[in-house]
Amino acid sequence: MSREIWRVLEQVPYPKIGKSITELGIVEGIQQEGKRVTITLNMANRELFPIVEATIVDLLKGYDVEVKLKERRKKSIHYGSTANPNNRAPYAKNIIAVTSGKGGVGKSTVSTNLAIALAQKGYRVGLLDADLYGPDLPRMVGVAHEQLRWGEGDKIIPSENFGIKIMSVGLTTPTPDTPLVWRSSVAVSALIQFLEDVEWGELDFLVIDMPPGTGDIQLTVAQELPITAGVLVTTPQMVAVDDVSRAIVMFKEIGVPIGGLIENMSYFIAPDTGRRYNIFGEGGGRALAERYSIPFLGEIPLDMEIRSLSDQGRPPVALGDGRQKGYYRAIVDRLLQTVPFTLDPPS
Ligand SMILES: Nc1ncnc2c1ncn2[C@@H]1O[C@H](COP(=O)(O)OP(=O)(O)OP(=O)(O)O)[C@@H](O)[C@H]1O
Ligand SMILES: [Mg+2]
Repeated sequence: MSREIWRVLEQVPYPKIGKSITELGIVEGIQQEGKRVTITLNMANRELFPIVEATIVDLLKGYDVEVKLKERRKKSIHYGSTANPNNRAPYAKNIIAVTSGKGGVGKSTVSTNLAIALAQKGYRVGLLDADLYGPDLPRMVGVAHEQLRWGEGDKIIPSENFGIKIMSVGLTTPTPDTPLVWRSSVAVSALIQFLEDVEWGELDFLVIDMPPGTGDIQLTVAQELPITAGVLVTTPQMVAVDDVSRAIVMFKEIGVPIGGLIENMSYFIAPDTGRRYNIFGEGGGRALAERYSIPFLGEIPLDMEIRSLSDQGRPPVALGDGRQKGYYRAIVDRLLQTVPFTLDPPS
């Protein structure tokens, strides 16, 4: 490498950062033959290349200069199959996908509180919002006011609260009510970006909050990740209908191991008297789990506090009363007993 050229490059600022391109380590190579110089740069932000190029050419006036951008390795466009899934999250020891056949049964609430309950046990936990069209997690985890931040090497920095890391498309939109009008192929690539380009660090658990139904995103998650446990959420009314069964059958057919079934909004606790009302009868979730030979992980009642705390971004398992904390902790304990997770002893 020519020292003289290198010294000139030390004078070239990287736009808006106040450091030189040599300091930032983006000069990949310098080739010189007499007055002919070829400089290769490895820049993440390609839009800034012409500015840097112009500065270099200007400072090396006496030379015949060519500035090149290093070819980036193309992202693997090889999609996995459900029989042989890719692993786009090798940093996560275990992956839990929380799903249901229908909307509004409490997947996001369950995902949030399970993730926090795992973190309370000392595990390193990431919570990924795969509900790209209805991203509810930022509000539930109290980070709705935050915006996406970029770290070094073009990595996205996840938000953090209650001891877990959180990534959601909701953090990328200017306001929580901005709708995303995306074709599903775009949504799928955004999801893959959240798996590959987020600075998750090492995780014991990546908990994924799935959108309702059995569509493209569910399939993508099953094809691009080796899911350790699919967790199904249902409500007592749903037990009677086919949607939950469809979600169970889909998991079974595509070979996703099922961690178990949770019955949410099982019974009602009257806020004034604390009395329990079995509005929809009792035992439906358990019976459904038995019918499909999957573990029953527990019941969570319909509790007004769960709703209002969740809306305020105050997860019940962290900030609720002892009873509310207990529902989620009991489910996590059962999940940890039931599923052969890969784990070091918690710190
Ligand atoms: N056990 C519960 N008691 C009272 N309210 C609850 C309970 N579980 C969830 N909710 C409330 O029900 C609503 C729907 O819950 P949530 O958003 O978790 O469902 P979802 O399955 O993720 O919905 P979607 O399919 O739209 O993503 C929320 O307002 C939430 O606060
Ligand atoms: Mg949801």
